[in-house]
Amino acid sequence: MTILARPLHPLFAAELAGLDLHAPADAARIAEVKRLMDIHAVAVVHHDRTLTDAEHIAFSDRLGPIERRPILKVSGATDALRVPHHEIIDQSNLDETGAIYRDDDRRLFFKRANRQWHTDMSFHPVRATYSLLSAHEVPPDGAAPTEFADMRAAYDALPAAMKARLDGLVAAHSYWHSRVLGGGPAPTEEELRSRPPACHRLVHTHPGSGRKALYLASHIAGIVGMAEAGARSLLAELTAFATDRRFVYSHAWRVGDVVIWDNLATMHRATPFDDCNVRRDMRRTTCREAEVPV
Ligand SMILES: [Fe+2]
Repeated sequence: MTILARPLHPLFAAELAGLDLHAPADAARIAEVKRLMDIHAVAVVHHDRTLTDAEHIAFSDRLGPIERRPILKVSGATDALRVPHHEIIDQSNLDETGAIYRDDDRRLFFKRANRQWHTDMSFHPVRATYSLLSAHEVPPDGAAPTEFADMRAAYDALPAAMKARLDGLVAAHSYWHSRVLGGGPAPTEEELRSRPPACHRLVHTHPGSGRKALYLASHIAGIVGMAEAGARSLLAELTAFATDRRFVYSHAWRVGDVVIWDNLATMHRATPFDDCNVRRDMRRTTCREAEVPV
């Protein structure tokens, strides 16, 4: 079946009708999805039935290279996994028994940090390309939407003087920086060692479209060669500009939805909900710029 892209926002984001991620995808179909992703950057795929973990992994693997990760060490957490796949990041508010986290669980604080604007995996030298988030259980009435901001359109709209100022600037991204900013506890030595910072240009050329884009995230701890106060104020100004409502698409989830976004062309954030009382089961796979050995 032909895939029909129905725009969801004037600048980016589209619903892909005629794409069923339950079904195996051949090379032509994958090429078509990538072509549409290069145009729209965010793709919403509705399903009546939730994707199984195996289907989710299989499709992501075809987009590839999929991230297969060692499990992040969060002190105090057990090694048991609710979702027993190294390709799937459990983005729920549920512990390994399937119960809602206790409100003093460190993992809950770390998850709340995702409510800041960010790109996935920018704290790693090999950046994330696509993230695929699958909705298994969602809060009622469209609560807890995920918001996306168009980093290509935001760059295009920057004043020429700001574009010149950003030219060549390099930012240091740290996972732990955004966790602490989000109200989480200071990382332990072991946690710090598990994810050291990574450096990336603040403006890059999006590989699939050739368009320039901001590469911003709350993970940014500093700008190379710039004093801390100056870097903080520049980053705050850029983030406020790039997340203005005119650049933002907000997705209200239904069970069975899969949203694919391109981390090299967008930022995103989760939004608050009653996460100590209401269940939300979301599962994510991630593709990378290159294969990363585990
Ligand atoms: Fe994220």
